[in-house]
Amino acid sequence: MTGFGSGDAECSRAVELLAGCGRGVALTGAGMSQESGVPTFRDALTGWWARYDPMQLATPEAYRTDPARVFGWYVYRWRMARQVEPHAGHLALADVARSFDHFAVVTQNVDGLHRRAGSEDIIELHGSLEAFRCVGGRHPFDPERFRDLDLPEGGGVEPPACATCGSPIRPGVVWFGEQLPSDAIGRAHELVTTCDALLVIGTSSVVYPAAGLPDLALTAGATVIEINPDRTPLSPRATLHWPATAGEALPQLAAALAGTA
Ligand code: APR
Repeated sequence: MTGFGSGDAECSRAVELLAGCGRGVALTGAGMSQESGVPTFRDALTGWWARYDPMQLATPEAYRTDPARVFGWYVYRWRMARQVEPHAGHLALADVARSFDHFAVVTQNVDGLHRRAGSEDIIELHGSLEAFRCVGGRHPFDPERFRDLDLPEGGGVEPPACATCGSPIRPGVVWFGEQLPSDAIGRAHELVTTCDALLVIGTSSVVYPAAGLPDLALTAGATVIEINPDRTPLSPRATLHWPATAGEALPQLAAALAGTA
């Protein structure tokens, strides 16, 4: 006899809600990568912001005040992202996409794990750890020279000068106080206002404008399914809150949608 596992009721409800949905979108946050060993930002004790002040690491002012500290932290995170692997939830999300006519991933993550897991049509709202560029002319910079650097967490790295224009190199991510790339946020708006279903996975839903996307989807009539072990400000409004990790829920959902559960 097969017993009911945890999440079976939510999985069945999710499959019911997704039936007939042609256009799907996933909105993902740091919790999506947590099971790959990448820290989240706001989880108590383990989140980056439990240990560091975001105003000293993730703002233009911080970079101007202490460029080596800020640049070093992003080099450290770039190397961490290269050392980890996509987990079963990342891989399952690429499978879930196959149940839709069109599926896109809008992510706040900068670690590149969705791409490595085989997802297609990925919108990186907050940029990418791979996309170092210069301050002056946005010329791209290849960080390969830092691959084998002996760099402890918290270690500083002086930003190199751009080979083309001489201006300092900065990370290709969006900092607090900066605008999101207009093409990325424009595309995300279009996707969530025209989709049938939005899966919101592993985000605390407190950082705007990304946190506003589920409400746009709800207003446009879409089903919103939140996958997160904890409740968030979105939970009371979501069509379904599935209290599980990405690595638990997404493989279960992919199997159920494929009819193999
Ligand atoms: N699976 C699913 N969700 C998880 C998991 C997991 N394994 N582990 C933690 N979570 C949830 C947490 O409960 C929390 O709600 O993921 C969420 C992570 O929230 P944050 O750390 O705030 O990350 P995020 O929402 O992506 O932050 C948004 O803030 O600091 C900025 O630019 C940074 O992109 C980031 C933005």
